[in-house]
Amino acid sequence: MVATDGSHSSERAVEFAVEFAKRHDSKLVICTVTNQQLVVLSNREPDPMKGARSVGEELSDLGAEVLRRAEQVAKSAGLNDYELIEAYGTNIAATIVAQAEEIGADHLVIASLGTTGVSRLLLGSVAASVIHHAHCPVTVVR
Ligand SMILES: Nc1ncnc2c1ncn2[C@@H]1O[C@H](COP(=O)(O)OP(=O)(O)O)[C@@H](O)[C@H]1O
Ligand SMILES: [Mg+2]
Repeated sequence: MVATDGSHSSERAVEFAVEFAKRHDSKLVICTVTNQQLVVLSNREPDPMKGARSVGEELSDLGAEVLRRAEQVAKSAGLNDYELIEAYGTNIAATIVAQAEEIGADHLVIASLGTTGVSRLLLGSVAASVIHHAHCPVTVVR
């Protein structure tokens, strides 16, 4: 399973995971996590300026877009055995780890940085927590 937040770093992790899955003739699950807390909070107070669409829906659209872009990478590389999952959680790292466990992933691929991308950091906080808590080997792409 590869986890992506749609960032440039994540995209490289997706490319790596796609190549890895092809080489090992294995299935690839592409997962993005949408912050459940933001969805719930925003649904409580819908913004009238946004009409009928809540920020929660927009967040989910963002997740779908992230998955569509990752799917393009898989498709254009000729990988056919893949699945897209949008997961929801308040703790992003815990949700990634739980999702990987739930599907019985035997290998988790993440990037060292994500959308925040403070490049002086070696590892983003989600990446660090995933490495710490994962139930399977983790590859960190940098
Ligand atoms: N919301 C998310 N959904 C899926 N994967 C994520 C999410 N956030 C982070 N990741 C994974 O963790 C990597 C590192 O991100 P993160 O630790 O959040 O760094 P940063 O602090 O730079 O955003 C990402 O490239 C991605 O692989
Ligand atoms: Mg991040």
